[in-house]
Amino acid sequence: MNISIFGLGYVGAVLIGSFARGGHNIIGVDVDAGKVNMVAAGKSPIIEKDIEELISDGVKNGKISGSTDHYNAVMKTDVSMVCVGTPSKPSGELDLSYVLRVCESIANAIKDKNSYHLIVIRSTVIPCTSEEKIIPLIEQISSKKFGQDFGLVMNPEFLREGSAVGDFFSPPLTIIGARYEKDFDIVASLYSHLPSKIIRTSLRAAEMMKYASNAFHALKITFSNEIGAICKQYGIDAGEVMEIFCMDKKLNISPAYLKPGFAFGGSCLPKDLRALVKAAQVRDLEVPLLKAISISNEMQIKNAFNLICEKNVKKIGVLGFAFKGGTDDLRESPIVALIEMLIGRGYELKLFDRHVSIARLVGANRRYIQERIPHISRLMVDSAQELIKDSELIILGNDDEELQSVMNQLDSSQYVIDLRPAGKDKFSTPANYERING
Ligand SMILES: NC(=O)c1ccc[n+]([C@@H]2O[C@H](COP(=O)([O-])OP(=O)(O)OC[C@H]3O[C@@H](n4cnc5c(N)ncnc54)[C@H](O)[C@@H]3O)[C@@H](O)[C@H]2O)c1
Repeated sequence: MNISIFGLGYVGAVLIGSFARGGHNIIGVDVDAGKVNMVAAGKSPIIEKDIEELISDGVKNGKISGSTDHYNAVMKTDVSMVCVGTPSKPSGELDLSYVLRVCESIANAIKDKNSYHLIVIRSTVIPCTSEEKIIPLIEQISSKKFGQDFGLVMNPEFLREGSAVGDFFSPPLTIIGARYEKDFDIVASLYSHLPSKIIRTSLRAAEMMKYASNAFHALKITFSNEIGAICKQYGIDAGEVMEIFCMDKKLNISPAYLKPGFAFGGSCLPKDLRALVKAAQVRDLEVPLLKAISISNEMQIKNAFNLICEKNVKKIGVLGFAFKGGTDDLRESPIVALIEMLIGRGYELKLFDRHVSIARLVGANRRYIQERIPHISRLMVDSAQELIKDSELIILGNDDEELQSVMNQLDSSQYVIDLRPAGKDKFSTPANYERING
């Protein structure tokens, strides 16, 4: 394939060398003539393991050339990859000016092109940038139509400096955000020789994926630093703790607890987190990340409350209110906290939870229910059917075995707010259905 690569920094330099090794014809484009001249001379504009050899081989084999001429680079190629910088503005906002400027130049050339041209965004951009800024800009300047005359794909870059070439040839995943199948197919073919899985998603989800990944990586580093600092204060080998921690591939290093839903609760997480933060504080240690977890968790309850208040209803049914499905444990249930806020605001509530109903009569939690939350116990009804009758809004707190049939009985005026973790089940959602997060 003939590919023009815009931006000869860390990402662009690795791409020109690596795609040339795959047999493609590459034009490396930059506004910095010094970098372009280096590439044209077979030298790498960046210092990175194995890159020098890839670029010098590519130039020797006639697979790589350099240019400062954006127009000609687009005219001579079928695919343009955008790898220019997206630095922070002083406000923290992303500076898109380099990306938009390159896209403007590409659009000026597309205007005069008779063949289909595909633009691949590899720079990190905030969700919706492609759909709301880049595509309209290209359409406006080129007077050409997205999906008909040109394509656009978001293909986030996951390489790490220091092991960038190795990461290119063995990426964790290849993510291609595309609206049109043909655009996806072109980009997927560029990576078909690599061992990683190729995932197709929407443009905006691909943009978001990069941020979710980087935020998580930063979170992991800060988390292990705070755990390490607590270990140090207590004379514990932090390296050993984290090594053992990482051996748990079921709950720790796993998809567990990574599904967006509602606040956590129960008899362990809230109290143990509080105790850990306190243990750090008594040794004069600040652990702002660990401390912020409870604050953020409280915020989830307030967000749910606000979302419910926005609906302008009076009668609410809560289906499932133990801290998670399949249990009768109500201790520190965030759904109970939400129910108490709703009672305080004067809503008419009906509650049903199969497991709590049993516990109310016979279980170990009977005393807890009778003594600690009698005001909640009084609002319980005997079946899910009774709960949905007359409720203008139904909150799905956790799973219930009759959920699908209950959902089928709702009419289109009834709101449903789902607090359960995403991807739980694939029931056909009622008309006014909404998830708390996502
Ligand atoms: N560096 C990394 O490890 C890494 C990893 C993943 C993603 N990313 C993302 O990839 C993008 C590029 O990062 P980088 O580190 O390679 O940037 P960089 O700053 O090293 O390089 C950017 C290059 O773009 C060039 N440029 C600027 N305007 C241009 C224009 N109008 N036309 C042509 N070239 C132009 C600059 O001269 C520079 O050489 C960023 O969005 C970054 O967030 C970087």
